[in-house]
Amino acid sequence: LRVIVLGSAAGGGVPQWNCRCRICALAWDKDARVKRRTQSSLAVTINGEEFVLINASPDLREQIAGHAVLQPRSGLRGSPVRACVVTNADVDHIAGLLTLRERQNFDLYATQATLSALQANPIFDVLAPECVARKPVRLDEAFEPLPGLVLTPFAAPGKVALWQERENLEIGVEGETTVALELRCGSKRILYVPACAAATTSLREKIAGADVLLFDGTTFTDDELIAAGLMQKSARRMGHLPMSGRDGSAASLAGLDVGRKIFIHINNSNPVLIEDSPERRWTEQAGWEIAYDGMEIVL
Ligand code: MLT
Ligand code: MN
Ligand code: ZN
Repeated sequence: LRVIVLGSAAGGGVPQWNCRCRICALAWDKDARVKRRTQSSLAVTINGEEFVLINASPDLREQIAGHAVLQPRSGLRGSPVRACVVTNADVDHIAGLLTLRERQNFDLYATQATLSALQANPIFDVLAPECVARKPVRLDEAFEPLPGLVLTPFAAPGKVALWQERENLEIGVEGETTVALELRCGSKRILYVPACAAATTSLREKIAGADVLLFDGTTFTDDELIAAGLMQKSARRMGHLPMSGRDGSAASLAGLDVGRKIFIHINNSNPVLIEDSPERRWTEQAGWEIAYDGMEIVL
């Protein structure tokens, strides 16, 4: 079971096209302490020949360019990408589907809620149905997008995508709008939770005993975007549990028996992205790694 982190950043990436916050400014200025990061996606393989993309980032074309294993290898047309699984309808997770047009056969797996969001946007019809089979997945039901790779989606507390928000927005709903994935190969188990609004008991139970946890690391503090003058929204309002604080993710997931804990889907406002920052040290001392583009996990 091999997981390649194609994109470790949240929506916007690092640096974000229109941002000169403290962290983006360091990234624009090529300061060695802040790595450039693309938006949220993983590539998963068992045999090194066939891959599943988990989430399709707006940066997918660049991510494929950076990873020879994802490039066409023989024949006139083809791709090692056999399937794509989408965990919610956020722009950072679906926009890359448009990059996967060009009449290539692959399977597209998502919950019915996410498939309906795609269906409501006719631009996604560019993925012709005779090439791209849209396969609904159900909560807590396993499916096998590649031989030997067993994925099980489960509800992560969340909300609808930003572009779907209306007046009656509910945050922290557990259903089909935001899912996490269990990746299993034999006895090996990786949990991927790129968006999560709360560390519920059922989520903690799922996570316990995993070999690797990849968890929502959007922000360090709940109010960091507000404090930096970037936006009037807290992390929780955006459906993301902050890392720090008494009921943040580091504290809430402490003490669980997990082989490696890795923060992923990191927003450009998050000071852990500065490699010598106190927040980075705090997070590492709490037992967490910080994902970076190109990071590989092999079990
Ligand atoms: C999020 O994870 O909160 C979203 O990706 C925000 C966005 O659409 O940029
Ligand atoms: Mn996102
Ligand atoms: Zn920024």
